[in-house]
Amino acid sequence: MKRMLRVALVTSGGDCQGLNAAIRGVGKTLYQKIHNVEIYGMYDGYRGLIECDYKFMEPRDFSGILTQGGTILGTSRQRYVPGKDIVDDNGDSVIPDMLHTYNRLNLDCIVIMGGNGTQKSAKLISDAGMNVITLPKTIDNDIYGTDTTFGFQSAVDIATNVIDYIHSTASSHGRTFVVELMGRDAGWLTLNAGISSGADVILIPEIPYDIEKVAALTEKRRKSGHSFSIVACAEGARSIHDVVLDEEASRKKKENSLYPTVSYAIAAELEKLTGQETRVTVPGHYQRGGPPCPYDRALATQFGAAAADLIINRQYGRMVAIQNNQITSIPLSDAASKTKFLPVDHPMIQLARDIGISFGD
Ligand code: F6P
Repeated sequence: MKRMLRVALVTSGGDCQGLNAAIRGVGKTLYQKIHNVEIYGMYDGYRGLIECDYKFMEPRDFSGILTQGGTILGTSRQRYVPGKDIVDDNGDSVIPDMLHTYNRLNLDCIVIMGGNGTQKSAKLISDAGMNVITLPKTIDNDIYGTDTTFGFQSAVDIATNVIDYIHSTASSHGRTFVVELMGRDAGWLTLNAGISSGADVILIPEIPYDIEKVAALTEKRRKSGHSFSIVACAEGARSIHDVVLDEEASRKKKENSLYPTVSYAIAAELEKLTGQETRVTVPGHYQRGGPPCPYDRALATQFGAAAADLIINRQYGRMVAIQNNQITSIPLSDAASKTKFLPVDHPMIQLARDIGISFGD
C-alpha cells in the first residue's frame, strides 16, 4: 500500500471568481486518482497555515462549490517584505510558524492559490524547505508566466456590463462618465472591458495620459453629434505629469489630493476643460464578486487538476500556467520574479487605436 499523501490548500490575498472551482479541481482529481490522500483546507489564507487552523476536507466537501464566488476557505493578506520575509504586525517572521504547521500535519505539499504578492511569498515558503505548488488567480491578470489568470475573465464580464449600463444613462443626459476599474498597476482589465463595451477613451497605467488630449477627444465627439463620452479608467492610471514624479513626491501628491481616487480628479479636470457635466462610477469590489464565468470555471478546474498531477508526480516548486492555450507549469522562481504589465505594443492596444479609441496620449 502506498504511503499517505498529505496536501494543504491555501487561498491567499484578494479573492476572485474561480477559487472554489480551483479548490474543487485539486480535491476531486486527487481523490479520483489516488486513494491514500488527506486534504487540509487552511482557513483564511496564510493565517491558517501560521496558526494551524484548518478543516479536514473529505470528498463531499468538493461538491457543490463550482459556481460559488469567493473562497470557502476564507482569505487574508499578509505583510510581505520584498524578497526577504513574510511578517506579522510586530515585524516578526511567520515562516517558522508555517514550517511548524507543515511538520505537525506531516504535509507533502501546500497548494497556494494567489495573485502576484502571493506568488512572491510562496517562493519564500518554498525556499524555507516546504513543498509548494501555486495557482495563478487574480482579476488583474498581471502574473508573469501565464497568459491568463482565473478571475480575470469574470471581472472583464462584470466591468463590461457596468460600462454597457452606463452608456444609456450617459446618453440620456449627454454627460461624460469616467468608469474606474480595478487592476492595480496593470491595464489588462480596463483595456479588455473598455474594448468590449465600446468605451471612447481607455486610460491605463502603462500609457500616461494627457488630460488635454482626453478633453479634446470628448469635444470632438460632441461636435460630431455624440452627446456623451465614456472614459474607462484604470485605478492605476497616471497622467504625463504624475509619471515623472519620484515615489516621495507621488505619495505627497496623493495625500494632498482633494479626490479619493484618480477618476474623480480626471472627471473634475474634464468638466473644467470641456464644460460638459461629468460623473464618476466606481464598481470596486463588485468586479471580484459573484460566480465565476464559464471560462473561469473551466480554467480554474484545469489549473486545479494540473496541480494535483504535479503533486502526484512530486514536481514541486512550480506554478501552474496557461501558455498558448496549453496548460503547463513554470518554476515558481520565474513566476515570482516579475509583474506582467500590459506591453504598449500589444495587438489589443493597436486594435483599440485602429477603431478610434483614445489612450489620451
Ligand atoms: O489584486 C486584486 C485587487 O482587486 C486589485 O485590482 C485592487 O487594487 C486590490 O486588489 C484591492 O485590494 P483590497 O481587496 O485589499 O481592497
